Amino acid sequence: MISYDERQKLFHLSGERFSYLFQVLPQGYLRHLYYGQRIGGVQDAEEMFPVRACSFSPGLPGCGDSRFSPDTFSCEFSVYGAGDFRECSLLLEKEDGTRTADFRYEGYEISPEKGGPDGMPAFRGGETLAVRLKDTLSSLRLVLYYTVYEEENAIVRRAVLQNTGPSVRILRFMSFCSDFPAGNYDRISLNGAYAAERMPDRAPLSQGVYTVSSTRCASSHEHNPFFAISATGASEEWGEVYGFLLVYSGSFVMRAEKDALGGVRVTGGIGDTGFCWRLDKGGRFCTPEAALVYSCEGTGGMSRELHDLLRRRLLPQSRKETPIVLNSWEAAGFSYDANKLASLIRGAAELGAECFVLDDGWFGSRSDDTSSLGDWTPNRRKLGGGLESVAKLCRENGLSFGIWVEPEMISKNSELYRSHPDWCVRCKGLAPIESRRQLVLDLVNPAVREYLRSSLDAIFSQGVSYVKWDMNRNVAEEISYTLPPERRAEFGHRYILALYELLDYFTRKYPDIFFLGCAGGGGRYDAGMLYYFPVQWASDNTDAADRCRIQYGGSYAYPLCTSDNHVSSCPNLSTGRTTPLKTRADVASLGGFGAELDPAKLSEEEKAELRTYAVRQKKLRSLIAEGDVFRLKDPFAGNEFCMEVLSKDKKTAYAVWVHFFAAANPPPMRLRFRGLDKAACYLVEETGQRLMGDVLVNAGLPLPLPYGDFISETFTLKVCPKGAEEGKNER
Ligand code: GLA
Repeated sequence: MISYDERQKLFHLSGERFSYLFQVLPQGYLRHLYYGQRIGGVQDAEEMFPVRACSFSPGLPGCGDSRFSPDTFSCEFSVYGAGDFRECSLLLEKEDGTRTADFRYEGYEISPEKGGPDGMPAFRGGETLAVRLKDTLSSLRLVLYYTVYEEENAIVRRAVLQNTGPSVRILRFMSFCSDFPAGNYDRISLNGAYAAERMPDRAPLSQGVYTVSSTRCASSHEHNPFFAISATGASEEWGEVYGFLLVYSGSFVMRAEKDALGGVRVTGGIGDTGFCWRLDKGGRFCTPEAALVYSCEGTGGMSRELHDLLRRRLLPQSRKETPIVLNSWEAAGFSYDANKLASLIRGAAELGAECFVLDDGWFGSRSDDTSSLGDWTPNRRKLGGGLESVAKLCRENGLSFGIWVEPEMISKNSELYRSHPDWCVRCKGLAPIESRRQLVLDLVNPAVREYLRSSLDAIFSQGVSYVKWDMNRNVAEEISYTLPPERRAEFGHRYILALYELLDYFTRKYPDIFFLGCAGGGGRYDAGMLYYFPVQWASDNTDAADRCRIQYGGSYAYPLCTSDNHVSSCPNLSTGRTTPLKTRADVASLGGFGAELDPAKLSEEEKAELRTYAVRQKKLRSLIAEGDVFRLKDPFAGNEFCMEVLSKDKKTAYAVWVHFFAAANPPPMRLRFRGLDKAACYLVEETGQRLMGDVLVNAGLPLPLPYGDFISETFTLKVCPKGAEEGKNER
């Protein structure tokens, strides 16, 4: 709900469990007052939230009251150059070279409708407040948008700059700014590397600025556009946690600054390293959206709110079930022929898969990673016919057909490069910089986008029902010579806008195709990509032990249904580690499920075992997709991993437990569930026990003594029908 108190000029945004208050000061500046547990309202904001002066802090321009300093009061949006020395949200350069702006309140509108940023993904629906500010020094207007999602306890923010005067250059423009009162806070982010994405990183904030960012023109393996701050001491289950999620897939920045008086400012938006956008007369610039959630139920509560928000308001409404796939990559790499494909397809059907995905190597003359990206013509010799023939073979085996593409790239050794050497991103005078022996296509060039539309249309219409869209390097030279010199610095953001335009085109044109996003694993696993491709290949690392950490970390921000996980063969390609097949399958079951191995190399017992996991997955799929996640055992903190998924009606739960390293004489271990209906009786399917919810939550289940490394167990709980509670344990 959004309300406005005219007397105090006070906006109150509230959801079921949060309130967010800010006020217009008499001078026209916006002052943030409160963000936290829901409160009824404030009668006297001046008294409740007194302002104070601080030596060396400048006053407000033209304001006689020295207590008001832009450097000390909490802001809704901080603008560079007028006395707020903390990290700013907006930095402009005007035509005369000055960088001072003075935005003051003009008015507001509350609308039941919600718009979105031009050309970018946006959350759906929601009552929206627009607060208009005007620069007293120019014709610039700044509009701050706040959309409230009451049930999800979220606010979605974005900002728009409109220019009706001389050109200005935008050097920094954040999507949000959130100031918190002095206190002790931890900062939490998801950092990592290729094959080790989204590792939670938590530490106390100390005075100074902590930054997570990407300058790679992709959200990156290294840092995720998610950030949280929590009250120090907040745990997985309790305590105040604020989560911030940017809906953007390119270079970004999230900053948390703890100032001299202990207050904390969090800002986030498009990365500002090298960023420069020219805003001419009549133009407007929109930031990407950012979601803010508040929970007093710890990091777990914050995650569940983000998950609900993403599932209900961002992921495509017509979301399809993730099919169980067999993907050819770890099974065959680039080396296959028609016979091998036929064997993989038959094997996929035998394992209970629903879709066969032909990964890299099917086009041009590609037999390793040195050639053919951009030549999206099937290699008929290698495939033993066209894509239609592979699709037909899949159909005959009861499978749908999926295909891998990497549209944003071009190989130097390709027909496309030979005919259009100027289509790659490069800096004239330097040899184009290669990475994985490939170059990036200049998507900013409309001719490149047109080429991609027509060449991929020809592929997607050949019986394809699943597309894995990959992106295997980052942009080094951020240049497009199709832009005039004064706009070349806009490349990074324009690349992402061009990418979104393509994704919008393909997802609208092929509503029946299931799209999987991938960037060398999870190198672009962000809310922007999820808007188009609701499932991402979580990591190229399929090692079950590592996957516990990757999937656990990813769940801080993203629902399990967004993570695609495959069972691969052992020793694992990335780590050389051997883990039991059961553990690989149990860990992979916490999301989109599939296999990435050669069925012909499996024993009959292994095939039969995998078939049972495929059957189980079909039963679990909707629970995994829609349920609430509880992280029960933290693999970063000890020798165990456990995640539970609980249906919204609390009638079904599923938990996967992994014990990493065996030890002689291990301590007795228990598993305490969370969120269950304490008064209901649950059947534990794997053991046959019937136990009350309060017992499972408070006393927990005894866990088996692990023998051997990387042992796993699953627990499927179903509420017993009325009357069955009395029955004795079936065990
Ligand atoms: C990336 C992907 C893999 C596979 C290869 C193919 O690394 O993450 O899953 O598709 O590319 O080259």
